[in-house]
Amino acid sequence: DIHPLLLCGGSGTRLWPLSRKSYPKQFAPLTGERSLFQASALRLSGPGFAAPTVITGSDYRFIVTEQLAAVEIAPAGILIEPEARNTAPAICAAAVALHDRAPGALMLVAPSDHVIPDADAFRDTVAAAVAAARSGRIVTFGIRPDRAETGYGWLEPVAEPDGLQPLKAFVEKPDAATAQAMLDGRKHLWNAGIFLFSTEAILAAFEAYAPDMLAGVRQAVAEGSQDLGFTRLAPAPWAGLADLSIDYAVMEKADNLSVMPYEGGWSDLGGWEAVWREAGPDEAGIVTNGPATAIECHNVLLRAESEDQQLVGIGLQDIVAIAIARRRAGRPQGPRARGQARRHNAQGPG
Ligand code: GDD
Ligand code: MG
Repeated sequence: DIHPLLLCGGSGTRLWPLSRKSYPKQFAPLTGERSLFQASALRLSGPGFAAPTVITGSDYRFIVTEQLAAVEIAPAGILIEPEARNTAPAICAAAVALHDRAPGALMLVAPSDHVIPDADAFRDTVAAAVAAARSGRIVTFGIRPDRAETGYGWLEPVAEPDGLQPLKAFVEKPDAATAQAMLDGRKHLWNAGIFLFSTEAILAAFEAYAPDMLAGVRQAVAEGSQDLGFTRLAPAPWAGLADLSIDYAVMEKADNLSVMPYEGGWSDLGGWEAVWREAGPDEAGIVTNGPATAIECHNVLLRAESEDQQLVGIGLQDIVAIAIARRRAGRPQGPRARGQARRHNAQGPG
């Protein structure tokens, strides 16, 4: 069986005010009636999958248990990070814990804030990568790019991106010129941020490229405590870990990566621009939901959260406007939270 690991840590503040530190985007029903987190957990359940592990921060532990219970998924474990240290320590901790429990097991790392509409096609693609992962490869999943996105990692397969292949290079978050060159070259794929590997393979990679992190994480797992069904990683060793993503810590360096192209729909709802794009703007570039109306607008996302609100945009261009009930607004945090409407560039809400 494949053991899913759901990463549930980022606060998603680019989607403020709907996504907030106290209630990150993966828990909000952004595009459907289920939250992205629930959809992710369901996508990785059923035949061939063991119960998922979730790694998250202390603030979110009860949201996680409630949302899993609501879709009738019993997790194998919920790991609590004393503080966010990005994805490398989080994945490392889960791999160490899984390796203790089931040495050599296959682990599928998945962000919990992505939209993947065709769950069956996605599971088939994962299944097709199992043999490679069993043989010691670290498998990434590649998405055909349609823009020079600098917020993603880019994958260079050894040959034409057609079926599972060894990876020649992994370039995390390139600058704009590099991204454009990779798009034009038509060889690269985007890294979906989803990884399949055996615990042995990933721990060997941490040993090779981030041995200090691995040592600290081992200690944090070994000294962790059980608390009402949650596993709390030990704060002292955790505090000493570098804040680093798995992409920089391991993926850019490892020489045993493969890529499995995924042809179905995929989107990282990283910001309002992605929500706008995913919702399918009409010819005028307009996206509204029920209680919102756009009159003579162009390239707008207008969204009111509840039916007793009304939001009307008149003559707006390149605007995202979000109405939320006051009790949920929370306090504005950080530079992202300057106001509820922000100006955007001519390419559309971004
Ligand atoms: N538990 C935990 N702890 N989860 C975390 C942490 C953390 O400290 N930091 C991030 N996460 C979770 C996020 O919630 C998200 O689900 C996932 O890990 C990826 O983190 P992001 O911060 O969203 O990464 P990114 O989008 O900038 O880049 C990654 O994903 C891209 C595709 O969406 C990279 O893997 C890129 O290469 C990739 O293209
Ligand atoms: Mg992301």
